Amino acid sequence: MKVAEQFDPASSAVMFTGDCLDLLRSIPNEFVKLVVTSPPYNLGKPYESRLDLGEYLEQQRQVIEQCVRVTSKRGSICWQVGNFVDNGEIVPLDLKLYPIFEGLGLRLRNRIVWHFGHGLHASKRFSGRYEVVLWFTRSSDYTFNLDAVRIPPKYPNKKHFKGPKAGQLSCNPLGKNPTDVWEIPNVKANHVEKTAHPCQFPVELVERLVLSLTDASDWVLDPFMGVGSTAIAALIHGRRTIGAEISSDYVRTAMRRITQAEHGLLRIRPMERAVYDPAEPSKSVPPRYVSFGNQLEQLKLLERGPG
Ligand SMILES: C[S@@+](CC[C@H](N)C(=O)[O-])C[C@H]1O[C@@H](n2cnc3c(N)ncnc32)[C@H](O)[C@@H]1O
Repeated sequence: MKVAEQFDPASSAVMFTGDCLDLLRSIPNEFVKLVVTSPPYNLGKPYESRLDLGEYLEQQRQVIEQCVRVTSKRGSICWQVGNFVDNGEIVPLDLKLYPIFEGLGLRLRNRIVWHFGHGLHASKRFSGRYEVVLWFTRSSDYTFNLDAVRIPPKYPNKKHFKGPKAGQLSCNPLGKNPTDVWEIPNVKANHVEKTAHPCQFPVELVERLVLSLTDASDWVLDPFMGVGSTAIAALIHGRRTIGAEISSDYVRTAMRRITQAEHGLLRIRPMERAVYDPAEPSKSVPPRYVSFGNQLEQLKLLERGPG
């Protein structure tokens, strides 16, 4: 795999250390199929200085404008956010960011609710157990591979009991639509993907977006890539990836994880694994060890063309 440190269309992965605006300005118009990111939430985490909300939104607007410019006409942008909290008062960031995307002509396809089981225990409000992914497209003609992300139906053998289809299976044999509420464990201390980063998103959250919103060898961009969860989800499914991260420590961790994945040594939580239920521990399946060697071989062939 060729990994570049600056934008380089001949590589399979670009890992840029620095401000994402500097990387974004070097990417040609309409170059990527999917932008997927979890931006800083302005909560005063170790990697961010807490800004006035207006200033934060202005910074986000500059990044979003560039992301729209580099996204192809059939492409998508997925912005994963939670709440900004000020003196116990919550401000859902998606409500504040939506007008920026709307003003740039993007169309909202889903506001996906990502539900998870662990987090802070609140005493003066109900404990927060979800965040959202705003999925926008640039146009009304967009890539959406639903069959690639169908999930097992609850009652796989259910049949029509009357009418012309009586006796035939009533569900799609390829599985059902995963809906806009996704229950995926967040990356806390005992999660197999946990690194030193305080708020990684799980690889399986991004895998569902990569598989449904891109095709093989498409480019996937994460302007705030942290420890490379988007890059891993893209590479293990034969896509190419570009990411920026301001902390060189996190870039080093991302590079290490990508190298481990390339050699089949990275442990990630399997897609569609049931959430752990102490009453039914047998449903648990071991983590996946992922490798993307074969997909990259195919990618190189695609780049070279037939013969
Ligand atoms: C919420 S975290 C993203 C974590 C990532 N989704 C993952 O799974 O590892 C946001 C990241 O953006 C980085 N960051 C903040 N400002 C940045 C900037 N201007 N350019 C690039 N990265 C930035 C932070 O260091 C942090 O790692």
